[in-house]
Amino acid sequence: MEISKLSVRAGQKTILDNVDINIYRNRVNTIVGPSGGGKSTFLKCLNRLAELDRNYRVTGEIFLEGKNVREYGEIELRRRVGMVFQRPNPFPMSVYDNVAFGLRLQGNVKKDEMDMMVSSSLQEAGLFDEVSDNLKRPASTLSGGQQQRLCIARALILRPAVLMLDEPTSSLDPVAKGKIEELMLELKERYTVVLVTHDIGQARKVSDYTSLLFNGKIVASGEGKDFLERTSDDTMKAFLGDLTA
Ligand SMILES: Nc1ncnc2c1ncn2[C@@H]1O[C@H](COP(=O)(O)OP(=O)(O)O)[C@@H](O)[C@H]1O
Ligand SMILES: [Mg+2]
Repeated sequence: MEISKLSVRAGQKTILDNVDINIYRNRVNTIVGPSGGGKSTFLKCLNRLAELDRNYRVTGEIFLEGKNVREYGEIELRRRVGMVFQRPNPFPMSVYDNVAFGLRLQGNVKKDEMDMMVSSSLQEAGLFDEVSDNLKRPASTLSGGQQQRLCIARALILRPAVLMLDEPTSSLDPVAKGKIEELMLELKERYTVVLVTHDIGQARKVSDYTSLLFNGKIVASGEGKDFLERTSDDTMKAFLGDLTA
């Protein structure tokens, strides 16, 4: 994706200020930064969820695979650019029905094909082996980490081009968090990942390309996992210092 001069204002307040950034294919593209910096708003612009907020004025251009996101239907765009939120939010239905949900909305999928798609999405999300004995169990009976992987499977069944993860591990214990970090490294082989995190350790582990979003502005960005160490940017240094203090 290419994002150019993206700004979001709400009343007098500037939430995103002239953001220029590329999202690279088959990489983990990571946005780090303090709370309130505009990270979630940035993600919501990529699939045009931000426009649904009457307070927001969104300007600038966003391209997905060379085409302006405004030229996609909203449903089609949100299928191509999937999103997983900070708190796992499975629907109050079975594991199977959660994963099948988006594909069912598209209609006309035969049962055999649906079964296959559900299984492969659960496999891709690293959850299949833990739930395959009973896909009919309510999603609410899964642990937090399993629920988050279920939400990832629910997004993957639509075969998105881009998978956005908004602080996907911040409500999880270290073991569940580690599983999702491993999973991100597998997922990037097939998908483009945009990760929002304020967990610098996580960025070090999984990020291929990291940008610091601070007060609505991208103030530093760079390639490689050790970018965070190498950076000479003062804002970045101050941010890292805050976290390690
Ligand atoms: N719907 C809204 N209307 C007005 N301001 C908002 C709205 N949502 C978030 N904001 C403000 O936008 C800023 C960025 O928020 P957000 O994108 O959620 O940041 P982050 O995800 O980095 O914590 C914050 O100052 C927040 O108060
Ligand atoms: Mg946020």
